[in-house]
Amino acid sequence: MTSCSAMESTACIKFSLMSLIWIIVLMNEMHGYRACLETERTALLEIKSFFISISDIRYDDQILPSWVSEDDGMPSDCCDNWEGVKCNATTRRVMQLSLHHTQRLNYFERTSASLPINMSLLHPFEELQSLDLSDNWFTGICEKRAYDGFGSLKELKILNLGFNFFDDSILPYLNTLTSLTTLILNFNSIEGSRTKQGIANLRYLQVLDLSENHNITSGSLTRLGLTNLTNLKKLDLGSCGITTLQGLANLTNLQVLDLSYNQNLTALGRPQNLR
Ligand SMILES: *[C@@H]1O[C@H](CO)[C@@H](O)[C@H](O)[C@H]1NC(C)=O
Ligand SMILES: *[C@@H]1O[C@H](CO)[C@@H](O)[C@H](O)[C@H]1NC(C)=O
Ligand SMILES: *[C@@H]1O[C@H](CO)[C@@H](O)[C@H](O)[C@H]1NC(C)=O
Ligand SMILES: *[C@@H]1O[C@H](CO)[C@@H](O)[C@H](O)[C@H]1NC(C)=O
Ligand SMILES: *[C@@H]1O[C@H](CO)[C@@H](O)[C@H](O)[C@H]1NC(C)=O
Ligand SMILES: *[C@@H]1O[C@H](CO)[C@@H](O)[C@H](O)[C@H]1NC(C)=O
Repeated sequence: MTSCSAMESTACIKFSLMSLIWIIVLMNEMHGYRACLETERTALLEIKSFFISISDIRYDDQILPSWVSEDDGMPSDCCDNWEGVKCNATTRRVMQLSLHHTQRLNYFERTSASLPINMSLLHPFEELQSLDLSDNWFTGICEKRAYDGFGSLKELKILNLGFNFFDDSILPYLNTLTSLTTLILNFNSIEGSRTKQGIANLRYLQVLDLSENHNITSGSLTRLGLTNLTNLKKLDLGSCGITTLQGLANLTNLQVLDLSYNQNLTALGRPQNLR
């Protein structure tokens, strides 16, 4: 900045002030550009409210405490400061979202709770690649229109629904997520007895964990569509109650197959490449 003579000082102070204001405006604009998308920020705060609304009231302060709105005081960027949120460095859109063990219930409520996750809450995250909803005691999903549940998550590659109470009714929704490469469904109530297609559409799936779904009985592997998942590299069927591997012989890319704790499993139908 040029120096000012005494005579011009008033004008000069005005000029300096104007420059300062411009600098502040510019910096704000730049900060605004770097920050996460307003629609996604609002949607994240709605997700937080949802988890608080379904949790025991005594845990309110422990649910996503770093997710704060402007009203809560310090402004913070949901891409940089919020736990479980990872954004694309260029687009600043949410790329990864971890909501592992976010719902907090007390033991009494756990036994009687029947809680669907509201899928509408996830619709704004069109660039989401990885979603972790594990360990939340969810029993199903609710949505506005039939089967638009995961509809907008076109980029989703990794989905973890482990440690919930999902049953076969989740399968038609999962079957729409055709970009998935990893699907974790351990410790749920999938049986494969009440499904037509299972997840046969997930042709890019490489990792599937179905362990500890104790009632996946014989014949269900085909009904679950596993025989169509020819890109599978890793399949965990531990503790599923299965008795035969009929149908898995087609999975020629399989490298890891976990069959532990299936007491009544016979060797019949074991894939050739794993013998
Ligand atoms: C971030 O977004 C840009 C533009 O869409 C894309 O080219 C890039 O691959 C993304 N980065 C990651 C890590 O996905
Ligand atoms: C689900 O979430 C959407 C978006 O926040 C909301 O409009 C809708 O009322 C919710 N539905 C239920 C059943 O809670
Ligand atoms: C699964 O494989 C069977 C047998 O090859 C085939 O008839 C069926 O169309 C396949 N389903 C999908 C969804 O690709
Ligand atoms: C398996 O199915 C049987 C018969 O429907 C049921 O009684 C049992 O509770 C189920 N077990 C598990 C672990 O879901
Ligand atoms: C599995 O392989 C058998 C024999 O090679 C074939 O007849 C069947 O259509 C295949 N199933 C699928 C789902 O690809
Ligand atoms: C295994 O088979 C035996 C005899 O049919 C049966 O009593 C037992 O319950 C089965 N075990 C499991 C884990 O399904």
